Amino acid sequence: MKTYAFPGNFVWGVAASAYQIEGAWNEDGKGPSIWDVFSHTPGKIANNENGDIAADHYHRYREDVRLLAELGIPTYRFSIAWSRVLPEGRGKVNPKGLGFYDRLVDELLKQHIEPYVCLFHYDLPQALQTLGGWPERQTAYFFADYARLMVERLSDRVRVWFTHNEPWVSAFAGYFAGEHAPGIRNPLAAVRAFYHLLLSHGLAAEAMRAAARQAIVIGITLNLNPVHPASDTPKDRAAAERMDLAINRLQLEPLLQGTMPLAEFAPANLLLKGLIQGDDLEKIRTLDLLGVNYYTRTVIRHDARVPLVAAAPVYPPGNEYSAMWEIYPPGMYELLQRIWHDYHPTCQIMVTENGVPVPDGIDYDGRVRDERRIRYLKQHLIQVWRAIEAGIPVSGYFVWSLLDNFEWALGYAPRFGLVYVDYKTQQRIVKDSGRWFAQVIRANALEDDSG
Ligand code: FCB
Repeated sequence: MKTYAFPGNFVWGVAASAYQIEGAWNEDGKGPSIWDVFSHTPGKIANNENGDIAADHYHRYREDVRLLAELGIPTYRFSIAWSRVLPEGRGKVNPKGLGFYDRLVDELLKQHIEPYVCLFHYDLPQALQTLGGWPERQTAYFFADYARLMVERLSDRVRVWFTHNEPWVSAFAGYFAGEHAPGIRNPLAAVRAFYHLLLSHGLAAEAMRAAARQAIVIGITLNLNPVHPASDTPKDRAAAERMDLAINRLQLEPLLQGTMPLAEFAPANLLLKGLIQGDDLEKIRTLDLLGVNYYTRTVIRHDARVPLVAAAPVYPPGNEYSAMWEIYPPGMYELLQRIWHDYHPTCQIMVTENGVPVPDGIDYDGRVRDERRIRYLKQHLIQVWRAIEAGIPVSGYFVWSLLDNFEWALGYAPRFGLVYVDYKTQQRIVKDSGRWFAQVIRANALEDDSG
């Protein structure tokens, strides 16, 4: 048996997002978001499912906070639905929407759980999409206004804030691949959207610091993947480098270095005149906490048909896969090493998401024996531990997710929770992995006997 002990002040938590769990999509004055519109469009989501009800967290948040408390989870990262508090995305405030997040924060604090609030997890108010959405620069200013509103309201109680969850996914899944809302397939719109998402981080950070009622921590969480070439040929290696630029450098360089390698996207660059204005890049480079979401690596081959990157993913047979991705634990260590050695971030670094979809079922005795999830989390946590041992100051780790939830275009089939949700009854059942994670937190250490 080997014990992997974590530093004394290590932050343990779970993560969630509004649209994936809240439901109550049109209740109490909430405006529609692009995800309401997208998921109500036939053919966009597996089995035409949607987040109308989801895990009904809007009505059951007290029970869910109690679950967090029972499991001894000290930190909860969740997102605010912008159109719940500002139904049109700007202008008139919805007091009932604000009231929900007030009560959620109070409930968490009552149970001694620290709220980590994320302002944007893919669900742009539809009213702003109608005005053009993220490809339009003005959306970044509307976001900063919304960020200021939330900080004015909650920063007496909330210390840690994330502007965005995975802005790259918002931009490229939403406006390039069209697999996420708003379902647009336009490379230029995607690049513009991505840039304005980053700009909105900078503008919001400025507004949030000015409005804060205590010293706040401003973070962002990014999807980052080690990118490996499918073969040793010069073409595949070059394709992998382009993809690494597109995923990793495009996010890390502006945020940590104040540079924007967009120019390396040569064809798009011709069309990007006027995109970067004034001191934008100085504004974007502001960060107290870098959140790393790690699930998998990317294996890439050359593919001239793909716009911008001429590269496409491959899934080598014989590797281990979940229903969504390759399972590749060493990628966690490789990624943290790379961030540390290439960028020397002076901000905090935390793993803000890690988890695996498992086709969980309830056994005859009512238990959910999700051994595979336990193994996945163990293997990845060991890699986080190795990174800390190697001197990389990783200060927290969050499992995705507390509850099974709506997994975007894939609907409800992939289950990511430490807690099983029976969507017919909304009953919650703590899985074996939930109890296992509670034990890791209590011990502040991981025990592994797999040798
Ligand atoms: C991440 C998202 C999160 C969830 C997990 C599985 O990319 O941030 O909402 O869908 O993947």
